[in-house]
Amino acid sequence: MKILVAEKISQKGIEALLQEKNVSVDVHTDYTREQLLEVIENYDAIIVRSVTKVNEELYEKAKKLKVVGRAGNGVDNIDMKGATKRGIIVVNTPEANTVSAAEHTIGLMLSSCRNIPKANNRIKGRVWDRSDLKGTELRGKTLGIVGLGRIGSLVATRMQSFRMKVIAYDPYITDARFQKFGVEKKEKLEDLVREADFITVHTPKTEETLGMIGKDQFKIAKKGVRVVNCARGGIIDEESLAEALRDGIVASAGIDVLVGEPNTTSPLLDFDNVVNTPHLGADTFEAQDNVGVTIAHEVLSALRGEMVPNAVNLPTLARQELEELKSYLKLGETLGKHYHQLEKDPIEKVEISYSGELASMETSTITLALLKGIFETILKERVNYVNARLIAKNRGVDVTESKHSAAGNYLNLIQLKISSKNKTFTVSGTVLGKGDLRITEVNGYEFDVSPSNNMLVAEYIDKPGMIGQIGTLLGASKINIATMQVSRNCHVDRAMMILSVDCEVCKDSLKMMNGVEGVFNVSFIKL
Ligand code: NAD
Ligand code: MLT
Repeated sequence: MKILVAEKISQKGIEALLQEKNVSVDVHTDYTREQLLEVIENYDAIIVRSVTKVNEELYEKAKKLKVVGRAGNGVDNIDMKGATKRGIIVVNTPEANTVSAAEHTIGLMLSSCRNIPKANNRIKGRVWDRSDLKGTELRGKTLGIVGLGRIGSLVATRMQSFRMKVIAYDPYITDARFQKFGVEKKEKLEDLVREADFITVHTPKTEETLGMIGKDQFKIAKKGVRVVNCARGGIIDEESLAEALRDGIVASAGIDVLVGEPNTTSPLLDFDNVVNTPHLGADTFEAQDNVGVTIAHEVLSALRGEMVPNAVNLPTLARQELEELKSYLKLGETLGKHYHQLEKDPIEKVEISYSGELASMETSTITLALLKGIFETILKERVNYVNARLIAKNRGVDVTESKHSAAGNYLNLIQLKISSKNKTFTVSGTVLGKGDLRITEVNGYEFDVSPSNNMLVAEYIDKPGMIGQIGTLLGASKINIATMQVSRNCHVDRAMMILSVDCEVCKDSLKMMNGVEGVFNVSFIKL
């Protein structure tokens, strides 16, 4: 596997990548766009920060690309649809730099309202003059936070210790979150803008948030309002802010991010009551080490085909949740892999039932694992957690899930039912203890089989001598049987056996076994 590090990450991050065997890492943070487009076809993964545009133009050339690692939080430079369509996993590090971004926000707020950079420049020019440098206290002022997510909430709690009154506008979070942080909820952005002495934005850049603080908001803002943008360029519209600064509506601003970075021509750079930094929010030793090591581990996990907690184009899972789901993901994938190795008919419908303790869990990721297992056997490496559902949809497969609190004799049970035009196929399984998988049923035959890499499934007439004949043929092919279980269906005089064998069973051996009188089907299953 080849990984391209296209933007600077910490040395600790590079070292974490190099720990992995069978991976080669190229660090080229100086490539021009043309050079990047020329070499990207060689790479399985790319690691970027906020500057590299990972878009259609790049995907078109990146035929081997499996993982995009965003060393940081915002993914506005990454075309998510294009990635998902191609099964490319996008991972980021949303938690790793939030404290640094929150502290930088506060730094900008303080330095702009106390004229610190301007004062610094003046005294460094050997001029002792404080006549026009009077600032304002934060104590007793109202801070309006737009977006009370990870960073917004860190800013909120920290600024309460400055005795600020904190209000926030975020229509996408619960009232409980406002209460948790002791923040007054504003139902409308206008209400926040009218009331705030300081406004700081902490939303992602989306169609809805771009320019959300603009001309109309500055019209109703308090005269002398102070603003900070340490989120994304353009959330506070630059032209409108420049006008509001010229009109004296905005007294000062702290701006870490600009539209079209790197940007050295924004009108906001011309004001000496605006403190600008070149996207430094996450630039601390702590955050960069944290980001670098986290992204390295995530990219490597994703390359190994594992589920990653911070995959942006997958259901969100906390590390703890992922740990709890791990065995079920493995079971789901295992059950899914049975279908195309035992049946050939095109699938019309997939019905998944989760029972017992699974009924109260977030099972959507297990469904992805099942679908991945089902399609992987016929579509190979291009199927993964990211595109498994899309593949099902594009193939016209209807996928449904149901949950049941009772799981019969089991604590948890996954039952998979696959319908094709003329048949239905079922397979079920459970997890015992801490990760011991069991196949409990195949097409109505009950089992208690521990799945292994190489398995043989045979269905035959339930009469003496059948098992012996298959065993003899395996022996003749020098295939050792590790374990064996037999299950019978008394109603139709049929039986099924599942064998674990020590190696793969070749087509010729399978053909011989399928030729035995009374055998309906013998299939090899590779897990
Ligand atoms: P987050 O996802 O935890 O929080 C974002 C919040 O914005 C969410 O609560 C969401 O509900 C809210 N939101 C979304 N749309 C909204 C809307 N229209 N109106 C009001 N609220 C809305 O994100 P975060 O980790 O707190 O990051 C916030 C921002 O900071 C992002 O833009 C991120 O890219 C940026 N960031 C910048 C730096 C930097 O170096 N300057 C560092 C880290 C993060
Ligand atoms: C982020 O989104 O994490 C920040 O913009 C920081 C960065 O990319 O360095």
